[in-house]
Formats: sequence, C-alpha cells, structure tokens
Amino acid sequence: MKFKDKVVIVTGATSGIGEACAMIFGKEGAKVAITGRNQVKLDNSLVTLQREGVECLGILADAGSEDDNRMMAEKVQTHFGKIDILVNNAGISMRALFEELDTEIFHKVMDTNFWGTVYATKYCLPQIIKNKGSIIGVSSINGYRGTPARTAYTASKYAMNGFLESLRTEVMKRDVHVLVACPGFTASNIRNNALTADGSSQGESPRNENDMMSAEEVAQHILKATVKRRRDLVLTREGKLAVFLNKWIPGIMDGIVYNHMAKEKDSPFK
Ligand SMILES: NC(=O)c1ccc[n+]([C@@H]2O[C@H](COP(=O)([O-])OP(=O)(O)OC[C@H]3O[C@@H](n4cnc5c(N)ncnc54)[C@H](OP(=O)(O)O)[C@@H]3O)[C@@H](O)[C@H]2O)c1
Repeated sequence: MKFKDKVVIVTGATSGIGEACAMIFGKEGAKVAITGRNQVKLDNSLVTLQREGVECLGILADAGSEDDNRMMAEKVQTHFGKIDILVNNAGISMRALFEELDTEIFHKVMDTNFWGTVYATKYCLPQIIKNKGSIIGVSSINGYRGTPARTAYTASKYAMNGFLESLRTEVMKRDVHVLVACPGFTASNIRNNALTADGSSQGESPRNENDMMSAEEVAQHILKATVKRRRDLVLTREGKLAVFLNKWIPGIMDGIVYNHMAKEKDSPFK
C-alpha cells in the first residue's frame, strides 16, 4: 500500500492510461478522484474502481475549462480533505495536414492537453505544496520529437514539457515532485477519437493497436516513477530510440519520421 490515504486526482480517467492510473493508484491505497466529459463513461469507470475496493469520486469536468478545473480542485478538497497527487492525463489527438487544419481544432487540442494541465496544476498547487506531493504530466514522445500531420498535438506536448520543466525548477526547494511521463504508442481510444481537419473524429485507429504497450503497463511505470520521485519517464523501445536519435541526428530523423508516418493507413501525406 504505497499510497495509503494519499488523495490522487486523475484527469480524463474514463478510458486508457487515465483509467489504468486511477486503478493502480487506488489499488495501492489512494483515494482517487477522476474526471471526464461524459457522465455515463464516468459512472462506468467509478463502478469498475469500486468493484476493486477503490474509494473514488467522479467529477464531470472539461479539462479545457478554467472554471471546471477550479471546481474540481474545490470538490476534491471538500470530499477528501486534501490533494497529494495530480495526474494531468486528459488528452486528445489530431491527424491532418496543417495547411488543411481548421485553427479551431488547433485551439481545441491546446485547450485540452496544454491549458488543461496549466489550469488543473494552478488550482491544485497550493495543496500539493502543502503536502509535498506530486504533479504528473502525461505527455508523449511527441513532447520530444514532432511528427507530420500532428502539429497541434506535438505543440501541445512540447508546451506541457516546457511548462512542467519550468515549474519543477521553480518549486524544487519546496519538496514538490514534478514528473513528465512520455509514453510511446499505447493501445487506447486516442487514435479513434483523434480529430481530423474539419473537427470530426477519425473513427478508427490507423495503426495496429495490438502491437502497442498496454495502458496498464504505462500506469505501472508511472506509479513506479512517482514512488521514486523521478523527473522524467520515456517509454517503449521505439520511443526511447526516437528521443535519443532526435537529440544527436535531428536532420536525419526528419526523413526517418516522415517515411515511418507516411506508411500509416490513410496517411494525409505520401
Ligand atoms: N495512447 C497513446 O499512444 C499515447 C501516447 C503518448 C501519450 N498519450 C497521452 O496519454 C493521455 C491519455 O490518452 P489515452 O491514450 O489513454 O487516450 P483515451 O483512451 O482516448 O483517453 C483519453 C481520456 O481523456 C478524456 N478526455 C478527453 N478530452 C477531455 C477533456 N476535454 N476534459 C476531460 N477529459 C477529457 C477522455 O474522456 P471523455 O472523452 O469521456 O472526456 C478519456 O477518459 C493523453 O494525454 C495522451 O496524449 C497517449
């Protein structure tokens, strides 16, 4: 019970990595608050957590709304009395050429992935400082290396990484732990729900989800990194290789990444 009586918030925990994080922290004794935009999905996730004996609270909240994030932090303090750990996980992706992408879609991705992290962190920080807790950002390999047709997503993850690195350094003398977790390709709903140029959902994943790391494995790594109060976490062999090569041979990586992503089903570039 590594997190007994700790209070953990996981944003966007009705699916994938967020739901798996809520479960694993809950099984380690934490009281868990989860968010999502859909009441039915939220209720289903709460039932799944409660079935495993996890004490949990569901909050209907849009990560991109400052008011919702303020309300989330208040509700968790009222219900559980404190906040120890914030997992900024809520996220959406997109796939479209930038020249065809409606700028509204760009804003939507930034609102959820980047501003969602900023707002949630802003309203949970006083409690996390008081409790010497952790702020976790579920970023991506795209926070280190851009991919074509993912401009908004890549920008949102670079922005998350920069924000959290700056904040980590700012609070380093106050025993606050900041982890930037960068999963590689992980089986989830993210590619089904990814937005296309006109804002509609992509519908199906263009990649083989069976070949990917599971959300549960990612959550396991995040839990371990939180226990060790690590500053960053880069996952999957392919992800680690991409980050390493991009540091030393970024120009060559442009070609490698272009060719790799062009092979995706229905890629918007060839
Ligand atoms: N899967 C991957 O390959 C991969 C790789 C690297 C990083 N990541 C990151 O991992 C995180 C989780 O993604 P996932 O792969 O687990 O995807 P997922 O299965 O699609 O889960 C996304 C979760 O975020 C919630 N969400 C989306 N927009 C939201 C909003 N505006 N407000 C509140 N909740 C919102 C969704 O719930 P509702 O739709 O019900 O609101 C859902 O619970 C994301 O930040 C993603 O960028 C994923």
